[in-house]
Formats: sequence, structure tokens, C-alpha cells
Amino acid sequence: NLDYLIAPSILSADFAALGQEVRNVIASGADWIHFDVMDNHYVPNLTIGPLVCQALRPHTDAVIDVHLMVKPVDRIIPDFAKAGANVITFHPEASEHIDRTLSLIRDHGCQAGLVFNPATPLHYLDHVMDRLDVVLLMSVNPGFGGQSFIPSSLDKLRAVRARLDEYVARTGRHIRLEIDGGVKIDNIAEIARAGADTFVAGSAVFGAGKDSDPHRYDSVIAALRTQLEA
Ligand code: DX5
Ligand code: ZN
Repeated sequence: NLDYLIAPSILSADFAALGQEVRNVIASGADWIHFDVMDNHYVPNLTIGPLVCQALRPHTDAVIDVHLMVKPVDRIIPDFAKAGANVITFHPEASEHIDRTLSLIRDHGCQAGLVFNPATPLHYLDHVMDRLDVVLLMSVNPGFGGQSFIPSSLDKLRAVRARLDEYVARTGRHIRLEIDGGVKIDNIAEIARAGADTFVAGSAVFGAGKDSDPHRYDSVIAALRTQLEA
């Protein structure tokens, strides 16, 4: 079994102090840095790109988990790999050739994953399991932090968990199951029971504590972990 990983989304961090935010959240016990890339085309918001990833890379040894909400996908992948991304995920409906895009990510030395919106069908998994390191399920519609967890995501999580369990039994290879959107202290245990092992949390983490306190994220990350142990 895989360990539980907590992946704070810097979408809700202080963009004027990103290096410090990343150092603080990792020092508080977070595992991955979730990096949301939005293009004002595939999603109705605009965020950060490879230059910011490159600027953050010297601030941490933690995995940088790049979630691409962009269309087209392929031409930005080499830039993120060069900028130090470790994991790159994309939405299958934003790629013309899903198998090719997954190969491109791995050929550039990164782990690869597909992202499913709340209404994206799971059949995109059918022919690409061997090319996946991560499956990322959206439990909100992509574009903004601070939205509420969509309850039907739990059934979808259970469905993906069953497929991944069957896959690991057959192949011995683990694929992470990551959940993104509306994850909070009061629902993370239920989300874990439905099968997630990697938890993105934006507003829940970066909304915690007082701005001036470098340890402001200690207690929220500890509380998320306590829920996972229960
Ligand atoms: C939404 C992003 C999420 C977002 C999650 O499009 O993919 O990663 O930052 O934020 P919260 O945890 O606030 O729902
Ligand atoms: Zn995300």
C-alpha cells in the first residue's frame, strides 16, 4: 500500500511570497507541492507557468505536482520538465492524442497522469493504465480554489480505486489516486475511505493561521494527518 500524501495547492498561497510559502508548507509537514496551471482558455482563470516553477525549484526538494489546465497541452510539457516539475497531469479532453501526451511526459523524465473533471467519463483509463503514474480526480469543476466538494466524487473515487486495485494485483505496479477540490479537515477521512491516497488542499491549508506566523500551517497539516490515521 502507498502512504498518504498531502499536496497543498499554491493556488491559494500568497503569490507575492511563493518561495516562502512553499518552504513554510513543506516545513509544516506537507509532502507534495500542487502547482495549478490555468490558461484562460481551457478554464476561465489564468495562473502561473514554467517560469514560476523554475523560480520555485531551488526552494524545495519536494515533488512539484504540475496540474495542467491548458489546451493544447503538448507544447508546454518540455518547458515544465526543464523547469523541474516531477509529476505532470493533464485533462484527456484537452489533448488530441492522449497516449502521445502521456509518453511525452515520461520521455521528459516526469511521472504522468490523467485528470478527470466531475463529468469526464472514466473510459479514458481503458487503454493507458501502463502509461499512468497518477490518476487525479477533480471533486470540483476546475478553475478556482475554495469551491465545495461535489459529493458524487466519492462514488467515482470508489470506481477508480477498484480499477487500480485490480491493476496492482495483476501487475504489481502502484498508481496513485489523487483527489483535488474542496478537501478539508472535516471530509478528508471519508475521502480516504473512498480510496484516495493523495490529497490536494488549497484553501484549507493556505487559509490557516496568521499571515505573519511562519508555523501557521503546522496545525492544519497535523489535523489533516490525524484524520487520515483515524
Ligand atoms: C482547481 C484546482 C485545485 C484548487 C483546489 O481548479 O485544480 O487544485 O486549488 O483548491 P481547494 O482546495 O480550495 O478546493
Ligand atoms: Zn489542481
